[in-house]
Amino acid sequence: VRVRISEDSVACALGANEVAAALAAALAERGLQAEVVRVSARGLYWLEPLLEVDTDTGSFGYGPVTAADIDSLLDAGLMQGGAHPLALGPVDALPYLVRQQRLVFARAGLTRPLSLDDYLERGGYAGLKRLLAMGEDAFLAELEASGLRGRGGAAFPAHIKWQSVRTQADTERYVVCNADEGDSGAYADRMLLEGDPYALLEGMAIAALCVGAEQGYVYVRSEYPQAIEKLRQAVARAEAAGFLGGDIAGSGRAFRVEVRAGAGAYICGEESALIESIEGRRGQVRARPPLPAVSGLFGKPTLVHNVLSLASLPVIARDGGAAFYHFGRERSRGTLALTLAGSLRQCGLVETAFGPTLGELVNDFGGGARTGCVKAVQVGGPLGAWLTPDDFELPLDYEAFAARGAILGHGSVVAVDETCDMAGMARLAFTFCAAESCGKCTPCRVGSVRGGEIVDRLMAGSHHAADDVALLLELTDTLRDASLCALGGMLHYPVRSALEHFPGEFTERGPQ
Ligand code: NAI
Ligand code: SF4
Repeated sequence: VRVRISEDSVACALGANEVAAALAAALAERGLQAEVVRVSARGLYWLEPLLEVDTDTGSFGYGPVTAADIDSLLDAGLMQGGAHPLALGPVDALPYLVRQQRLVFARAGLTRPLSLDDYLERGGYAGLKRLLAMGEDAFLAELEASGLRGRGGAAFPAHIKWQSVRTQADTERYVVCNADEGDSGAYADRMLLEGDPYALLEGMAIAALCVGAEQGYVYVRSEYPQAIEKLRQAVARAEAAGFLGGDIAGSGRAFRVEVRAGAGAYICGEESALIESIEGRRGQVRARPPLPAVSGLFGKPTLVHNVLSLASLPVIARDGGAAFYHFGRERSRGTLALTLAGSLRQCGLVETAFGPTLGELVNDFGGGARTGCVKAVQVGGPLGAWLTPDDFELPLDYEAFAARGAILGHGSVVAVDETCDMAGMARLAFTFCAAESCGKCTPCRVGSVRGGEIVDRLMAGSHHAADDVALLLELTDTLRDASLCALGGMLHYPVRSALEHFPGEFTERGPQ
């Protein structure tokens, strides 16, 4: 019998270590034989700490478990999947998972993050080997056929970016992984870094072989210390096993990876600021052109991709571009990892083919509001638009969201209930922008402060509410049109959408 308990940092924050220790002690005390293994997270966070017991007759889940539940669980026959108030039945059969298509997160909750054996046993490095057999040109055609678009948020077609890097005259090139996941409510990158680091390293090796890079960097935010540690260990183990280093998988080609810790600034997730930071400078946005594909790290052609873009590559290389394209709809192909957060009953990871509606995401997966009802949902981070239940028919699709004046972005979904003050959320957007602005351009540096002051006036019951709203709209237009990067350029989404849906919360507050 094997009992799986996650070692993911959120599971641990919810008590997984204490549960694992209590289980080990109780097993020893009762003289029971069972292997307790620490695995990645399923992404069913409302059920953590989650125990999954693998028996001869199947796997059974229990959760959320506390250390105090261990004795009663063992009394109830935990080792045989016995009945208990915390029993969930087979976790794979939970509707939350049955409705998902897990390609990138296929191993979530099943493997030990640093075990190369576990990774290889469940399809790991099959993609890299297939790439080496088919050659880079053939893989590029597969990549185009897959329809993969960047998962960091901008959804730029991956194969075009690769072609740009590949066709540069300079042959010193780099692959950079942007693991500076800064969006509120976003944690899919973290889950992958902590839970399946070899998937990222395999993806980076595939990309490096195709664009002709011998050195890669993973830039991980310092707020993810467990991810940084895991990744460093995974790099060392992958090198020792010949999947990184001077001779990748016997190909005679070299690719090495260095893990860099970011220093706590949201703007370092913007690719040019990230590059500046790796080079040892303050993270400040560079004017474009040139794009990193042309002149990036150390002035060399650089392929910058988000964690999940890179981690999709082993799947595409292993199963083929057509298999990946089969998932999704219209121009949004493959699967998207969404992370549910905020006032929902079931917060966790949802990897699904594009296509379900926002309402299905919030109500079927998220289980609706934890208290009261869902008032609004912000998709795509702090710079994403607020949507309301009136938008719940919107399909998860980049173009459909864009047509509604919203973004899917990196897939974070934060729901608020009816107690939320939406003018306060607009204020928060300005506060956030003012705190995180790199200061390079005036609309963002100054406009974020002035915009916050206008919202403050409105919230205090402005006597000139109509004028203040008009000023706010003009300011967000200026930010959109004159900012150098997305931080200032996308601030209009959260502010204008809050105004559009909840105008009374800005203009009808009355004198305070
Ligand atoms: P962008 O659309 O300017 O570029 C997207 C990517 O495509 C970049 O890597 C860029 O270098 C590349 N690219 C664009 N045109 C190209 C061309 N002709 N040839 C080769 N490569 C090309 O978007 P940007 O400013 O990089 O990112 C903005 C997005 O970031 C937003 O949509 C937002 O959703 C997302 N975001 C994500 C966060 C996260 O935590 N994951 C945080 C904040 C924003
Ligand atoms: Fe810096 Fe803001 Fe300008 Fe972006 S928009 S470059 S964060 S000042």
